[in-house]
Amino acid sequence: MDTTTKLSRTTIALHWLIALTMLGLCALGIYMVQTESWGLFHWHKSIGLILFGFILARVAWRLKQGLPPPVRDAARWEHLASKTAHWLLLAATVALPVTGMIYSGMGGHGFGVFGLEMVGSHYEAGKAVALDAGLSELGQAMHSWIGYGLLALAALHVGAALKHHFVDKDNTLRRMLGRS
Ligand code: HEM
Ligand code: HEM
Repeated sequence: MDTTTKLSRTTIALHWLIALTMLGLCALGIYMVQTESWGLFHWHKSIGLILFGFILARVAWRLKQGLPPPVRDAARWEHLASKTAHWLLLAATVALPVTGMIYSGMGGHGFGVFGLEMVGSHYEAGKAVALDAGLSELGQAMHSWIGYGLLALAALHVGAALKHHFVDKDNTLRRMLGRS
């Protein structure tokens, strides 16, 4: 159970596993798109799909437990802002792999985990044949926008964590690092 002084191991482990892997996948995604490094796409998809399993477990955990209680009483607006940001971050962790799958699946590129095919590719004369070009383009656009949105929100989130630690000098960051 998460309390005002201590977070459960599950909360801490899932937070850092998902946070650091998502940031890594954003960096990899932007790099591979800008440099057109096609060889990196299967790494991005495979790691994202494996992470999706942990993401679903984490969302189930949060829906069951709710968000951790704040370490101290805060103004109503502060509490509301933190709750909204945390649910938005959770929503982005689900939306990114889902839109990635829609883009790759509907675009005819297919996806799977390290060679284990989940949705097959459709290529003709070396070109991917879309199953639904409109849906694929929508998936691609949303994947990109949500990716950049997540980075902006994560920057605010890290800023808030640092403010708690250095300005308010409370236990918010220490608690997420496993120290009470
Ligand atoms: C789970 C976390 C994931 C994160 C954080 C993430 C993030 C990103 C980001 C930031 C980009 C660059 C977008 C751009 O510059 O326009 C990208 C590109 C891409 N991602 Fe993901 N992604 C994830 C999972 C997936 C999954 C599961 C798939 C497919 C099964 C996928 C497929 C792709 C593809 C195909 C691109 C290239 C898009 C293009 O060519 O415009 N991603 N991803
Ligand atoms: C790497 C820098 C990060 C730091 C220093 C950090 C720090 C923290 C801290 C201190 C908390 C506890 C807040 C509280 O007690 O109210 C927290 C919670 C949370 N963080 Fe982060 N975080 C980081 C990255 C991320 C990223 C990238 C995501 C999203 C992918 C994320 C999603 C969440 C969520 C959803 C919560 C609510 C509690 C939970 O579900 O685990 N964090 N974070």
